Amino acid sequence: METLDTIRLRKSTRAYQEEPIDEKDLETVLSVASLAPVGRGEYDSLHLTVVQDAEFLHQISQQVSKSHQGGRDPLYGAPTLIVISSKENPSKGMDYSNASFVAGNLILGATELGLGTCILWKPAKILAAKEELHQQLELPEGFEPTLTVALGKPLKDDTSKKEWSQRIDVNRV
Ligand SMILES: Cc1cc2nc3c(=O)[nH]c(=O)nc-3n(C[C@H](O)[C@H](O)[C@H](O)COP(=O)(O)O)c2cc1C
Repeated sequence: METLDTIRLRKSTRAYQEEPIDEKDLETVLSVASLAPVGRGEYDSLHLTVVQDAEFLHQISQQVSKSHQGGRDPLYGAPTLIVISSKENPSKGMDYSNASFVAGNLILGATELGLGTCILWKPAKILAAKEELHQQLELPEGFEPTLTVALGKPLKDDTSKKEWSQRIDVNRV
């Protein structure tokens, strides 16, 4: 698939099959994430955690739901949650920029493999704030969850491509 087609095909998936993704696909997605550009090439300032334990996913979902009183599973039933964690960076915002590029690669790689993804903000905040959840991530010293990505087989295939459109305002000077 051409890169531009993959970009047009990618959409946030908010309903997943229970069945986990193939291990080979997971390995590919993780490798693609690791090929993302990272400020100053500091790949050791990032860490990826694959959460597939049903009980842990349930706990995360419950805690996120509690914090915003939403009715729907905030992880949308995804059988895998990828947690992108970062070391505190002296350059303000660099940790979030790096995590975003990693997430960007990850979601496009997953789309290419026919998998669904959804970037999720709140679970990272909850995982960082709740000690009992943070501990279960078994992160190396100094790392904090920055961004998470739900990953799985979409409940329904959607092969429609987004229209070309300029959603973000542009000015030229
Ligand atoms: C930083 C960031 C945080 C997001 N957090 C959530 C979230 O918590 N829940 C959710 O359903 N979608 C979340 N999204 C997905 C966006 O809502 C979605 O990407 C946007 O509406 C565009 O739709 P599309 O991904 O289908 O193109 C997030 C996206 C980004 C980039």
